[in-house]
Amino acid sequence: MKRLEGKSALITGSARGIGRAFAEAYVREGARVAIADINIERAQATASEIGPAAYAVQMDVTRQDSIDAAIGACADKAGGLDILINNAALFDLAPIVEITRESYDRLFSINVAGTLFTMQATAKQMIAQGRGGKIINMASQAGRRGEALVAIYCATKAAVISLTQSAGLNLIRHGINVNAIAPGVVDGEHWDGVDALFAKYENRPLGEKKRLVGAEVPFGRMGTADDLTGMAIFLASEESNYVVAQTYNVDGGNWMS
Ligand SMILES: NC(=O)c1ccc[n+]([C@@H]2O[C@H](COP(=O)([O-])OP(=O)(O)OC[C@H]3O[C@@H](n4cnc5c(N)ncnc54)[C@H](O)[C@@H]3O)[C@@H](O)[C@H]2O)c1
Repeated sequence: MKRLEGKSALITGSARGIGRAFAEAYVREGARVAIADINIERAQATASEIGPAAYAVQMDVTRQDSIDAAIGACADKAGGLDILINNAALFDLAPIVEITRESYDRLFSINVAGTLFTMQATAKQMIAQGRGGKIINMASQAGRRGEALVAIYCATKAAVISLTQSAGLNLIRHGINVNAIAPGVVDGEHWDGVDALFAKYENRPLGEKKRLVGAEVPFGRMGTADDLTGMAIFLASEESNYVVAQTYNVDGGNWMS
């Protein structure tokens, strides 16, 4: 039996990477999925590759008008919104003495404010619909502890874990479950960028950091986007109705909490 039959989902930043894998998995489980991304050309290509149950929506999570318009598009095209994944995020890396305010503002505006205000607008829509809903925020193992070169990103993901707890406690009275997934290291275009930044700041050849972090995972390799889809389906399904305000590590054993 399909576990998300008839549900309407919106996944931010799903034109590529983990968000795209979530969209494919949700469609397989019977949902209609808004591929909501700042990169509309790539979102359109992704939606057409996934098939008719996916549709592209232009969305910049740093702008309230864009958040509201994307949620309105789900209401128009799919009869409302049952599932949100706050997946869009940016990464940056620098030693403390080289951090810029521009990097701080950019990452907090996408990773934290984007998550909070997309969650808020979605909750308003779900409360008005009166049929509950599921909100899943993408945290990270980086939110569990600081890292010497990754201060801002780690802080944004710690904030996502905290927001998940507060929103989870506040919204469950409306039948809205808010939970989060904390991946470890997941191979893909995102990590190619991370690897290039480590190469610069740790003076390594390209690809070396990726090999090292993969070898350190207790499971024995980096994760793939598909390693995360089981948890994303569970947290969007009826099976997770009694799960409130949690952050689940899906990281091959990197972190225990
Ligand atoms: N890849 C990893 O190793 C890893 C590990 C832990 C957590 N995560 C988290 O998982 C999530 C997905 O990661 P990924 O590796 O697929 O990232 P990615 O960089 O491959 O994809 C991010 C997507 O977000 C979109 N985006 C960027 N800014 C946006 C904005 N303002 N509004 C809307 N969309 C925007 C991009 O166009 C892109 O399609 C992120 O929250 C990330 O922090 C990733």
